[in-house]
Amino acid sequence: MNLKDQITELKKQKNAIILAHYYTLPEVQEVADYVGDSLGLARTAAETDADIILFAGVHFMAETAKILNPDKKVLVPDMRAGCVLANCCKAENLEAFKAKYPDHKVLSYVNCSAAVKALSDLIVTSGNALRLVNQLPEDEKIIFCPDGNLGDYINRMTGREMLLWDGACNVHDRYEVEELERLKKEHPGVPSVAHPECRRELLEKADFVGSTAAMLKHIHESDSPEFIVVTESGIRYELERQNPDKKFYFMYDGDPKHDCFNMKKNNLENIYQALLNEEPELVMDEELRKQALLPLQRMLEMS
Ligand code: 13P
Ligand code: SF4
Repeated sequence: MNLKDQITELKKQKNAIILAHYYTLPEVQEVADYVGDSLGLARTAAETDADIILFAGVHFMAETAKILNPDKKVLVPDMRAGCVLANCCKAENLEAFKAKYPDHKVLSYVNCSAAVKALSDLIVTSGNALRLVNQLPEDEKIIFCPDGNLGDYINRMTGREMLLWDGACNVHDRYEVEELERLKKEHPGVPSVAHPECRRELLEKADFVGSTAAMLKHIHESDSPEFIVVTESGIRYELERQNPDKKFYFMYDGDPKHDCFNMKKNNLENIYQALLNEEPELVMDEELRKQALLPLQRMLEMS
């Protein structure tokens, strides 16, 4: 039996599901039961009746699954797969910042640790941020962390003046506007889609801005046969699966320096080993979990 079949067999035996993000390797997406953006993954984790959730993504995504499922075993193929953006905000630093602005609510992007979630009033994802922020009272004072680019985008789209944490994703924040301009010149008239973790000057040039799932939906529903894609290259697998006749032009195409190296730490071998040995398992302090659950539940109720 090859590795893929062995994984399928183990999933059946153990009543396990594999959740994977769109940025993981194609072979990982192929063995997953559900592939999605952070919002879809959180929703699926909240609804599953599997006994084991194997999370092929990055650490904060697996933590979110555990926060929502205390009685389930959450397996992580490689515990070192963290998120550079989430690491920009340490809970103790946020606590000190909060103390300076006691009348502000804390709105956190889901790309943050459980400890940061526990200090937050509401969690948002790139898939629901605008919708949720628009539901808050207009005069609500808000600290937004950890992604400064997404926060800036929300401020511009909603007319808010949230205080922004100075964090960024090392993949999206390193995209240069010159590369986008080069692609636009090479493919005149071709529309572009971008993830809101990119810097303002790129988002202003994009024809559509949204989460990975929102970009996929937009492209699938569009009549355009070509797109310039301003996000991590792993999404190409699902883009081509859904749109076999469309063509896609990626930023820095084929240059692994621009991949999310953490997402790529998930592979068939470590997924198989994790399912077989039921480790590494993500464990969490119960008090921390309960505190982190509240803003996440609020998000799921509001979105
Ligand atoms: P999405 O929720 O849009 O999939 O984004 C997650 C992420 O980490 C993007 O870098
Ligand atoms: Fe984190 Fe950026 Fe990787 Fe997304 S692409 S998981 S924000 S480091």
